Amino acid sequence: MIIAVDGPVAAGKGTLARRIAGHYRLQYLDTGALYRAVGLKLLRDGKDPHDEEAAEHAARQVGDVALDDPALREEATGEAASIVAANQAVRAALLQYQRDFAQTPTGAVLDGRDIGTVVCPDADVKLFVTASAEVRARRRFDELAAKGIETTYDAVLKDLEARDARDQGRGTAPLKKAEDAHLLDTSKLDIEAAVTAACKIIDAA
Ligand code: DC
Repeated sequence: MIIAVDGPVAAGKGTLARRIAGHYRLQYLDTGALYRAVGLKLLRDGKDPHDEEAAEHAARQVGDVALDDPALREEATGEAASIVAANQAVRAALLQYQRDFAQTPTGAVLDGRDIGTVVCPDADVKLFVTASAEVRARRRFDELAAKGIETTYDAVLKDLEARDARDQGRGTAPLKKAEDAHLLDTSKLDIEAAVTAACKIIDAA
């Protein structure tokens, strides 16, 4: 059983994918963390994320960064991740890792941007989780405020729209809904309602 969960930044797909994995007892991989790990490795090594060769090299050594390193969640890391995610050699280097993970005998849930379209085009169930940019920015702003990080709603919205444009506009594996993915708009749903809606889709499949 492979479940693909894709969608834009701050749509709630990480929380949702984790909950789905718990509910159906499947392994969970946050593929964004892989791109963040590549970005973080470059920043730590003093390299420019736009340096394509250095980024490819870092992607080959992605295992060097623990996927639960708190620095992965920092804004600067997210920015670097978004830049390296547009690099085709980086994506190729991370593809096999993701496909191997998906073949876990117990089944797996992977969340990201291109799971249903590129990484696991034959996934048993594909969800495309989204919400309006304003709702996503509000959620992200509240998250940052809870962590004590000072910013403004407008700055968060601007950053989110820039990241959406980069994720959707890149030539390789852009963020887009797979034709056979189920659309789940969480703009008006809290997490419990989103989990219920997702389980309904998965059970029917
Ligand atoms: O979901 P996230 O914010 O942790 O992802 C970090 C960056 O990695 C984001 O800019 C999109 C990119 N990404 C991607 O291109 N493909 C994936 N499967 C997962 C993330």
